[in-house]
Amino acid sequence: MSELVQGFVKNRVFHLELHRTDKKNALTGEMYQAMTKLLAKAELDPDVTVILFKGGHHSFCAGNDIADFLDESVLDPDGPIATFLHKLADLKKPMIAAVSGPAIGIGTTLLLHCDLVYATNEAVFSMPFVNLGVCAEAGSSYLLSRQIGQLRAAELLLTGDAFNAQRALEYGIINAVVASEDYWQFATEKAEKLAAKPQAALLASRELMKFDREKIHQVIDQEIAEFSRLLKTAEAKAIFKQFLSR
Ligand code: COA
Repeated sequence: MSELVQGFVKNRVFHLELHRTDKKNALTGEMYQAMTKLLAKAELDPDVTVILFKGGHHSFCAGNDIADFLDESVLDPDGPIATFLHKLADLKKPMIAAVSGPAIGIGTTLLLHCDLVYATNEAVFSMPFVNLGVCAEAGSSYLLSRQIGQLRAAELLLTGDAFNAQRALEYGIINAVVASEDYWQFATEKAEKLAAKPQAALLASRELMKFDREKIHQVIDQEIAEFSRLLKTAEAKAIFKQFLSR
C-alpha cells in the first residue's frame, strides 16, 4: 500500500488521508490505486459505517498529477483513475469530506460524490479542466448541474475560475464553513454522529438517493473517452508542459 495514502478505523469511521504534502496532494496512479483499495476495504469492513475523506491537512488535493497527463494511457478504462472514479460512484456507505487549502480538479469533483462536505475559509476550489485543454471528469458534467443548477455549473466548469468556501456554501457544494483550527475534529464528530445511527436505515436511505447511479457511471465513461482524446492534443500537452516547467 502507498505511504502517500493512509486509512484507519476509529469509532465506526474510516479515515482516508493523503500524505503528499510537498505536492499539495496531487494524485498519482499509485495513489488512485491505494485509494480504491482502501475504499473497497472500508466498504467491506463490518466495523465501518461512514467514510471520512480528509485529504491532506490544509491541502486537500491539488488534482491529478499533471506530469501523469503526459502519459497518453493514463485514462485507460481499466487503469487506476477510471477504476477509482467508478469506485467513488459505487460507494454504498456515506462519505464525508473535510476540506482546507487547494481542492482542485478531482479535489473538487470528488466532493460531488460525498454526502456531507465541510470546508474552512482557507479552502480554494476549482475545476480548471477547460483551461488545461481537457474536460470535466468524475461525473461532474452531470452531477454539478444536478446539484447546483445549470448556470452555476456552466460558470464553474467552463471558466475554471477558482472560488472560495463562502461561494461554495452559497452554491450548495459544501454544507458549512468551519474554523480552520479544528476542522478535522469537526468533521470527525459529524462522521461519528452519523456512524452511530441505525446502520440499516442509514444505508437504505442513502441508497434511495442514488437512484441515478447507472447514469453516473455512463457519464464517467463518456467523460473519460473525451478527456483521453483531449489529452493527446498538442494544445493540452503544451499547457501541461508549461505548468511542469514553471
Ligand atoms: N500536479 C503536479 N504537481 C503539482 C500539482 C499537480 N496537480 N499541484 C501542485 N504541484 C506541485 C508543484 O509543481 C510544486 O512542486 P515543486 O515544489 O516541485 O515545484 C508543489 O506541488 C507545490 O505547489 P506550488 O504551485 O508551489 O504551491 P502553491 O501554493 O503556489 O499553489 C496550487 C498550489 C495547487 C494552487 C498550484 O500548485 C496549482 O495550481 N496546481 C495545479 C492544479 C491543477 O491544475 N490540477 C489539475 C486539475 S485537473
